[in-house]
Parts: sequence; C-alpha cells; structure tokens
Amino acid sequence: MIVLGIETSCDETAAAVVATTAAGPRILSNLVRSQLAEHMPYGGVVPEIAARAHLDHLDPAILRALAEAGVLLGEVDGVAAAAGPGLIGGLIVGSTMAKGLAWAAGKPFLAINHLEAHALTVRLTDEVEFPYLLLLVSGGHCQLLVCVGVGHYTRLGTTLDDAAGEAFDKAAKLIGLGYPGGPAVEAAARDGDPCRFVLPRPMKSRPGCDFSFSGLKTAVRQITSERGPLDPRDQADLAASLQLAICEALTDRTANAITGFLREHPEGDTLVVAGGVAANKQLRICLTKLAEDAGLRFVAPPPALCTDNGATIAWAGIERLRLNLVDGLDAPLRPRWPLDTAAPPRPGAGVKA
Ligand code: KG4
Ligand code: ZN
Repeated sequence: MIVLGIETSCDETAAAVVATTAAGPRILSNLVRSQLAEHMPYGGVVPEIAARAHLDHLDPAILRALAEAGVLLGEVDGVAAAAGPGLIGGLIVGSTMAKGLAWAAGKPFLAINHLEAHALTVRLTDEVEFPYLLLLVSGGHCQLLVCVGVGHYTRLGTTLDDAAGEAFDKAAKLIGLGYPGGPAVEAAARDGDPCRFVLPRPMKSRPGCDFSFSGLKTAVRQITSERGPLDPRDQADLAASLQLAICEALTDRTANAITGFLREHPEGDTLVVAGGVAANKQLRICLTKLAEDAGLRFVAPPPALCTDNGATIAWAGIERLRLNLVDGLDAPLRPRWPLDTAAPPRPGAGVKA
C-alpha cells in the first residue's frame, strides 16, 4: 500500500510518500518546507501569509516527494491531506490539491485529522499496539489521550488555556529568544541554570489530568518586566527554568493519566509522546523516568516526525485506508476537530495557534 500525504495545516508545507512493505512501513520520501523566514518578522504565524506560501510551494513539494520516492501518481493507493484542525486557508490549499489529485488518479481521498496523524505516528516508527497512553503536545494542543484504536480516542485531560508549545513560544518572545520558541528555548537552556528563577508548576499535585500554562507565562512576564533587558546569562537561566517548569508540569499531569489509563486498560503497557514539543530532549528524559517508574514502555517518534510533516499524514492515511475509512471529495474542512467528540469542550482545547 502506498499513500501520498499532504500537510498544510499551519506553517509547514509538506508532502511525503509512505508505503507498507513486508518488512513494515517505510517512508519513501518526506519533504518539509518550513515557512519560518516568511513569518519570522511577525514573531508568529500569520494565517494569510501561510496560505499564500502553501499555494506557492505545495506543487513543487508534491512533485519532489513523488520523484524522490520513485513513485508515479497513478501508483499510489490513496491521497491523504490534513483536513483539520488548523488554519483554514492552509487546509483549503492542501485538501483541494489532494482531492484534485485523488480525482485525477481515480484513487481514494483521505481527510486526515492532524491530531490523529500525530497520535498514530508512533505506529509508523515502532511496533506499538492499541491501547496506549498518549501525551500530545504541540503549538495548538496539549492533551492526554488513550488511543484505543484508529478513529477511537478517549481524552483524559486537556489544557484550560495555552498549549505547551504556545507556552514555549510566548515565553520565548518575552525572554527575547525569537520564534519558534520551543527549539530556541531548548538551545538557550543548554547553558542555563534551571534553579535560578523560581517558576510555578501549574496544576501540580491537583487531581485530574488537565493542564494550564497561562500562569507560567505571567510569571515569566513579571521577571522580564522587572529586570529590563536580559543579558545572555539571564536568558539562558530563564530558558532553563522555563523548560524545567513546563516539563515538570507535563510530567505531573501524565503521572495522573497513567493511573487512570491502567485502571481502565490494565493490559496497556506503553506511554507515547507526540507533537512538536515531543522533540524536546528534557521532556523525553522526564517521561522516560516516569514510564520506567510506572513499569511502562516509553516510545517517542524521532524529532523530525514529532513536528509537522507529510509522512505522519500519509501514515494516518494508510491506517485509515486499511480499514476502508475513506472520504468523499465533498469531505468538509474542520478548523476545530477534537479527537474525542464525546469529551466536553474546554476553553483552550481544539485550538490550533
Ligand atoms: O506539531 P507542531 O509542529 O505544530 C502544531 O501542530 O502546532 O508543533 C509546533 C510547536 C511549536 O510551539 C514549537 O515551539 C514546539 O512545537 N517545539 C518545541 C520543540 N520543537 C518544536 N518545543 C520544545 N522543544 C522543542 N525542541
Ligand atoms: Zn502538529
């Protein structure tokens, strides 16, 4: 089975070809064109600029993805595209292109939930069976989910305000580290003292699995406005303190989720982390320890497959195609698209920054 995957839900224009082989899944090509340079002057993603950049760069990305994979459009078994959640302009560009290609090639179209793609990536890279516990942490989302099966997710907790990636991005701006914040904070934190600034661990020790990061952002703002311009030492120490606070907050909530997960699914044996923030090394260290203490296996996709890319979309396409969960060319776009539709809406959940 060979699927072409297209990702345009935020600021990465991405196309990839993924195949299943006798030896397991294989990424035949995975092209990601970041729009970093276009958005850099504004310190964040500008939706209109993102949509136009996708329009300019999607054609060549798809052509190169097919060429690198050595696959003709007629040879794919399906065309998958992120259909939500995300920025509507980008979603329109990617999905319309995918529908057109699917129609021209006479192949099924697969409308992919971007969050489901993050959730399933670990099954592309590792042998992970359902059910597993997932910490999904990206720029727009911060959730704890039980992945019960393809299309079947139970939300244990979500953020009440900012997502973890958003917390990195907003605090990085305050610290003067630029955009995108996560990688910048991680780089600056390398030489920093994580104990120099005392920052809150929001929600720590409270019952349940919900997150909150706005208080952390306020604490960083207080420090930066009190001290004035930060020198590189201050920046490194504050970055290290922030990174530790976010990782400890995430780990604390995940510990509660493990208890709930094992109660409902005593057969479950795996903790997974996915989404852009999952690229963070310190978070991986914290979660490795947490899983070890709980007797769980910990699995994280390689960093390049944690941030947005086409292979995650193509793989979700394969997972759905195998179950014949294909979509019509009239499939809607869904800027908000929760994975667990039965879970009550929360103020910060389902929002893609
Ligand atoms: O999954 P993703 O690429 O896009 C969304 O679906 O949102 O996640 C992007 C987010 C950004 O907030 C970025 O700052 C964060 O992931 N991020 C990181 C790291 N790499 C990306 N956060 C912490 N450490 C990193 N190394
Ligand atoms: Zn994402």
